[in-house]
Amino acid sequence: MNKPVLIFPAGMPRALDFLQKSIKEGKSVIGSSSLGYDASREKYPAWVHLPYVTDPGFDQALRHALIEFDIGEIYTPNIVVWNHLSQILGKLIPGVVLVNASPVDEVLSGYRAALSEAEYLMANQLPLMSDIQPRRQLSRVEVASLCRYTDLIPGMCDDDKFSALFDTSRYSVSGDIVEIGSWWGKSAFILAWLARCYEIGKLLCVDPWANEHLIQNEEMVDSGSRQVSADEALTVFQIGLLPFNANHMNYLRMTSVEGAAYYGENRSACTEIFGHTEYAGEIAILHIDGNHAYEAAKADVESWGKFVVGGGWIIIDDYIWPYGDGPRRVGDEFLENNRSRIAAAFVMGTALFIQLSLQD
Ligand SMILES: C[S@@+](CC[C@H](N)C(=O)[O-])C[C@H]1O[C@@H](n2cnc3c(N)ncnc32)[C@H](O)[C@@H]1O
Repeated sequence: MNKPVLIFPAGMPRALDFLQKSIKEGKSVIGSSSLGYDASREKYPAWVHLPYVTDPGFDQALRHALIEFDIGEIYTPNIVVWNHLSQILGKLIPGVVLVNASPVDEVLSGYRAALSEAEYLMANQLPLMSDIQPRRQLSRVEVASLCRYTDLIPGMCDDDKFSALFDTSRYSVSGDIVEIGSWWGKSAFILAWLARCYEIGKLLCVDPWANEHLIQNEEMVDSGSRQVSADEALTVFQIGLLPFNANHMNYLRMTSVEGAAYYGENRSACTEIFGHTEYAGEIAILHIDGNHAYEAAKADVESWGKFVVGGGWIIIDDYIWPYGDGPRRVGDEFLENNRSRIAAAFVMGTALFIQLSLQD
């Protein structure tokens, strides 16, 4: 049995996250704080009171607690406590270790990674040949913000598609951005951010968020789909996207075919969360990531492709897909039937990117 871990101060949000993680890993945990009454106390299986770190008796009280409970590790999310413990712990009682890196590094690591990723993306943009004048270069902070929240919002968008969306949207005409299939909202966030920074147009997400529409007639995929809740997915989408809405995004909780008919007639969407949004009625970027069964993917292209303007992008996700060939067949048919209208086409990651000719 591993020795217990002491969490001090125990009530801070990252302390509580660490508590949950430790319990899941089967670790023995002891909470501690210097408050007379700490509301987090009842969440801990065991508890010890310690004086404030500034109290002259802190080191001795800590030593007693470490010996009494035979503690092997300490986790602290507090920078002052962490700095003090990193100086005295080895001398106070050898063998007891601080398990976390500096809290400042912990808090900032995601932001630092986002800045590095932004620098990489900006230095490695696709050498695109396009008739469209590129939009302004985004700033390092704008791109880092895109990277940071793309990392935080859950979804199924891989790094290659992310970087291709970043690169291609810079060479976009103006118009609506439509996403078929948004689920938890990762790619929707990317499109919303790019739409706003590049001033391309407004984002419309079309998704029924209904479990029956997750069935793709591929058993391995379908068995996974039965374990998730579409209602919860929509709530996660709303929570994730709401802070980034600059009155430029909304959704239709409909199938893609129903959504296309609605869009054609109304050019607007109205939801409690995002309010009322008017659309241009012409699509600059169409991202198809809905049901991947051949018939469904074909219906997506047939019902929405007609709205895409000359110079616009059509992106067919999972053109390369280990579970079936629906998107690939639909993509290949589109390329075959529209040769004269296509300015560029390439596969990046697993998605097919098609740019229509400007004079389309
Ligand atoms: C792979 S997920 C989308 C992932 C998302 N684009 C991302 O990158 O995180 C597929 C989505 O397609 C939606 N979907 C299924 N059938 C659909 C249909 N007929 N029309 C529109 N969306 C559909 C599902 O509800 C699901 O949210």
